[in-house]
Amino acid sequence: MPGPGAYLFGKEEMEAVVEVMKSGYLFRYGSENDPKFLHKVSTLEKEFAKYCEAKFALATTSGTASLVASVFALGLKPGDEIIVPAYTFVASYTSIIFAGMVPVLAEINESLTLDPDDIERKITPRTKAIMPVHMLGNPCDMDRIMSIAKKHKLLVVEDSCQAAGATYKGKKVGTIGNIGTFSLNIFKTINSGDGGLVVTNDDILYETAFGVHDQGHKPCRLGLEVGNRNILGLNFRMNELTAAVALAQLGKIDKILATLREKRSKFKKLISEANGFKFRTLNDPEGDCATICTVIFDTKEQAAKVSKMLCSKTVDNSGWHVYHNMEHVLNHLKNVGQPHTKGSYPKTDDILSRAMNISVGVVDGGLGSGWGININSTDAEIESAAKQFIIACKSI
Ligand SMILES: Cc1ncc(COP(=O)(O)O)c(C=O)c1O
Repeated sequence: MPGPGAYLFGKEEMEAVVEVMKSGYLFRYGSENDPKFLHKVSTLEKEFAKYCEAKFALATTSGTASLVASVFALGLKPGDEIIVPAYTFVASYTSIIFAGMVPVLAEINESLTLDPDDIERKITPRTKAIMPVHMLGNPCDMDRIMSIAKKHKLLVVEDSCQAAGATYKGKKVGTIGNIGTFSLNIFKTINSGDGGLVVTNDDILYETAFGVHDQGHKPCRLGLEVGNRNILGLNFRMNELTAAVALAQLGKIDKILATLREKRSKFKKLISEANGFKFRTLNDPEGDCATICTVIFDTKEQAAKVSKMLCSKTVDNSGWHVYHNMEHVLNHLKNVGQPHTKGSYPKTDDILSRAMNISVGVVDGGLGSGWGININSTDAEIESAAKQFIIACKSI
């Protein structure tokens, strides 16, 4: 099973979908004079902007589409460099590559997010932006990242795809940098099967990202606007059915986060009696989504043994999200003269080889979190999982 929102699909999502079908308007644009047109996409944009306390939100077809629109919107030149962590989903890299820029990988630290110390080492005269990724729902160290960005005059595009609803020092992730992106795929906090969102407080970035997502059109077009377009765009438009599901899920997001936080704190407390590991650093313990409980063992041998006993995997072996498991990206990095072999990011390699992701709300083998609990786990199930983990730790 996937992310927490999917466990809570219910009559709210079903009724909303049926309502859209009955209206006859499935496209994001409809007849403004017809009361049957429900405006689900534009309502989602307004509601999500309100939820994030951002000036604008834009709905798209995926987190990847949100990243592509956002990176294009930065207005950078081909060959400009964007610093991105060596542990992230492949779309963080490919969005940069498709926009004609160069992803420059940097180390992560024990929060499993971008290491601010390494960002400064990776800055060159071509560096124009940083893409912090709030991995596993854990907000990055945004104070330090924003201060580095300010010092070096860099733009910041937040990949918040895994962290809808997370906050950093009281601010929703995605709204701290210049522009932020979200995914509504099945593994995320809330989901609509697929789908994405962009948030920003910047009028120009919004207008440009909107144009990229809709064939160069201005925001909320009512007609074809021939003669009024100056951006080349694509089609990343969300449809009304997707927005109907996303809106129903948005109505559940605070309940989802509160439930996950409560269950994770129970689980963490129970396993704290075991030895040989520590919890990953949380840059804002109050704001983390609590979708995952990541433990970092003292040695990689211990991590391998415990995860094997629990039929799970260490994070470096989890397949996705680890730079050296992305042969297509490595080939590209090689072609643009970037470090690309396994071992190029030794701190990241070391941490990921000692780390195990335990699911709390995102049950995803591709993230290494195939084992753990889920949003519906009872106290007895949480206690049982904790007991299994403690027994496995005793064997090391
Ligand atoms: C960190 C990160 N960025 C981007 C994406 C891309 O999102 P989508 O699958 O909606 O295109 C994902 C999805 O897994 C992700 O985890």
